[in-house]
Amino acid sequence: MSTSTTGTLETALLDLDELQGEAVLAFESAASPEAVEAARVEYLGQKQGRLKAAQERLRTLPNQAKKSYGQRFNGVKQALEAACDAARARLARRTVGGDGIDVTLPGIAPRLGHRHPLSQTADELIDIFGRLGFAVARGPEVEDVHHNFDALNIPPVHPARDPLDNFFLPDGGMLRSQTSTIQVRVMESQPPPARVVAIGRVYRPDTVDATHSFMFHQIEGLFVAEGVTMGHLKSVLRLFAKSYLGEDVRIRFRPSFFPFTEPSVEIDMLWHGGRGWVEMGGAGMVDPNVFKAVGYDAERVTGFAFGLGIERLCMRRHGIDDIRLLYQNDVRFLDQF
Ligand code: DAH
Repeated sequence: MSTSTTGTLETALLDLDELQGEAVLAFESAASPEAVEAARVEYLGQKQGRLKAAQERLRTLPNQAKKSYGQRFNGVKQALEAACDAARARLARRTVGGDGIDVTLPGIAPRLGHRHPLSQTADELIDIFGRLGFAVARGPEVEDVHHNFDALNIPPVHPARDPLDNFFLPDGGMLRSQTSTIQVRVMESQPPPARVVAIGRVYRPDTVDATHSFMFHQIEGLFVAEGVTMGHLKSVLRLFAKSYLGEDVRIRFRPSFFPFTEPSVEIDMLWHGGRGWVEMGGAGMVDPNVFKAVGYDAERVTGFAFGLGIERLCMRRHGIDDIRLLYQNDVRFLDQF
């Protein structure tokens, strides 16, 4: 073998080594089926592939060099084909449809939220009263004194108007302190009969503790038509209580006073799993002065109204003993409902 033949062979063998190194790396680092295919075309492609070029180089070598080169070439070819197969197998294990998504990894579970317990309670109340024929009414949270007090027969000197018990606004308006405002708005806007429930926030500057908040929710009911009696009021509230707290619930009325109802009662409920009689809200027969304020004929129609605390209903149902939990948005608490 001449020196020049040896030199040419050595260079050619080194080139084969380099080709193998480069190609194997390309297959091993291919992160997608497309990358494997690109590497296959570049190195193993029948027309322009670099292995093909290396094969053609055989013809240019001196005869004595052809055997060694051919043997090494075959080794390189096998290594490249094996690397290509391995890359394909690796990605096939990991992908579906060649989209590069690793379906064998554990999924990222999205954190699913749900309705807040107060919203769940509100939805349920609307549903129950809906089945009893009550439509949903709404009203503004920023109110005027007419709807919050005057039209509800609350006289100018009544303690409910105390500035320390209300959020009065500089313009003479106020944040409503009760949903009874909506009774007035409904009757002002339509002739009788009226049969509605209204759910919403009310505001009172109470010091926050386990049972008080400066903002809470009420549900207000109103039924006005010819011949509505207190018997209807009790029936509706009893049907409601059974749906919400269970068949074995008992309700009772205690005489009370509200300026906008006459007579007026406090509504107490007692149920299995509860802790004795619990006051849930107030009710009564709509006072004729309220009818006068909204232009209804008190000689022709009668009606009942009631107001219940949503927080209280929600807390009693779920055994929640601190109202503040309902406003803190702590998912460890909310997750339980
Ligand atoms: N508005 C009363 C309150 O906030 C609750 C209430 C009592 C509403 C009697 C009524 C009712 O509709 O008839 O304390």
